[in-house]
Amino acid sequence: MERVAIVLAAGRGERLGSSEPKAFVEVAGHPVLEHSARALAAAPSVDAVLPVLPAGMLDGAESLRAAWDLDTVLLDPINGGKTRQQSVYNAVRWLLEYQPAVCWVWVHDAARCFVSAEDAERVLAAAAKTGAALPVIPIHETVKRVVSGHVSQTEDRRELFLAQTPQVFRLEILREALDKAARDHVQGTDCASLVERLGVEVNVVDGRRENWKLTEAGDLDRAERQFAESRQ
Ligand code: CTP
Ligand code: MG
Repeated sequence: MERVAIVLAAGRGERLGSSEPKAFVEVAGHPVLEHSARALAAAPSVDAVLPVLPAGMLDGAESLRAAWDLDTVLLDPINGGKTRQQSVYNAVRWLLEYQPAVCWVWVHDAARCFVSAEDAERVLAAAAKTGAALPVIPIHETVKRVVSGHVSQTEDRRELFLAQTPQVFRLEILREALDKAARDHVQGTDCASLVERLGVEVNVVDGRRENWKLTEAGDLDRAERQFAESRQ
């Protein structure tokens, strides 16, 4: 096993406001986490999927395996941490200890449940050169920097992009990035930002607007509609 997709599902989903963690909320009849895991598992390069779950939710590991019946190996889920970064760190440390042959990982937000196998393949291909890549999308709106309630600057949006997942890294590079972030007390909102701090060149591929992240309450209706449209 050399290439593993880490699926981050340990968040509480506070902004979504549902009673259960966001990754376990059902859309189109299946948990958000299942949609993400299934899409990644369908990518030919993905050897295994490693779910990262909230503390106390590991009991379901066997039932997940039975219910999902994935096209690839489903590793036993592990516990996440308090922050997204800590959840990634837990997964990376687990892989280094128990799956020493792994050299490439995808890090994916379970909440991006419209990810495709093709996304996973394209980002892996882009990461081959330097060991790191992510999908990005351009910003169409004008971007203002606002400080203390006033515009301090209008940014050049041609140079600005929104980061998506799955992001792909050589496992060793991601470990180094996480170690350095821990030493420097840095919290990043994605993994690529931590790898950038190492001076490693991070490659980009075109992301897809359809691969958005379920975040706020209204997003559940939008996700249901998108699944319904994709079936037509
Ligand atoms: N995540 C995680 N561990 C955490 C926090 C987040 O594995 N401690 C995962 C989430 O499950 C999600 C992804 O990281 O799939 C992106 O995070 P986000 O959209 O912020 O999800 P939540 O943290 O669950 O939502 P919120 O911030 O609204 O509480
Ligand atoms: Mg969060």
